[in-house]
Amino acid sequence: MKKITQTLIAGLALTVLAGTASAQVVGKSEDQIRWRQSAYHTMGWSMGRIKANVEGTFNKDQVIEAANVIQAIANSKMGALYQPGTETGKGWKNTQAKAELFTDKEGVGKVAMGFGKEANEMAKVAASGDAAAVKAQFGKLGESCKACHEKFRVKD
Ligand code: HEC
Repeated sequence: MKKITQTLIAGLALTVLAGTASAQVVGKSEDQIRWRQSAYHTMGWSMGRIKANVEGTFNKDQVIEAANVIQAIANSKMGALYQPGTETGKGWKNTQAKAELFTDKEGVGKVAMGFGKEANEMAKVAASGDAAAVKAQFGKLGESCKACHEKFRVKD
């Protein structure tokens, strides 16, 4: 039973990483690296927008726009952009993905699921327009980005 549970968990983590087992592979290696770098870069922009609203004048609509972008990317099955052969190589710049990202399926599944949960929650909280709640959730979401970067991304 324990074995079966472990297998199921590993399978789930793999599904999160790869989208679904039958996910279509789209793009050459170079494109996949570019797309994932672009997606993360766009999330950086959106996090910056939320931060500006939390620290400056709070504008509910801007926070909703930015949170929805992050939520869409979080649910876009980006794991499909980590096909074998993209461990190294250049998109807009050399990939910063660590080799462990391609082998530690369980660890990746954990941080990816944590991030997905916080991103969906961020969109919900943004819709409420509650500035204090947005601030708190922004902190949690940022932690979930960091959790993955610390383990799976090469530092600048
Ligand atoms: C599941 C792991 C994971 C999560 C979650 C994650 N990142 Fe990343 N991030 C990466 C990896 C891996 C790279 C390097 C990608 C590459 O170069 O191929 C990266 C790169 C980046 C970059 C640099 C992009 C570039 O090349 O210009 C930024 C900015 C970034 N992430 C922001 C974020 C933000 C903001 C969040 C949360 C809202 C986030 N990331 C969540 C793994 C993650």
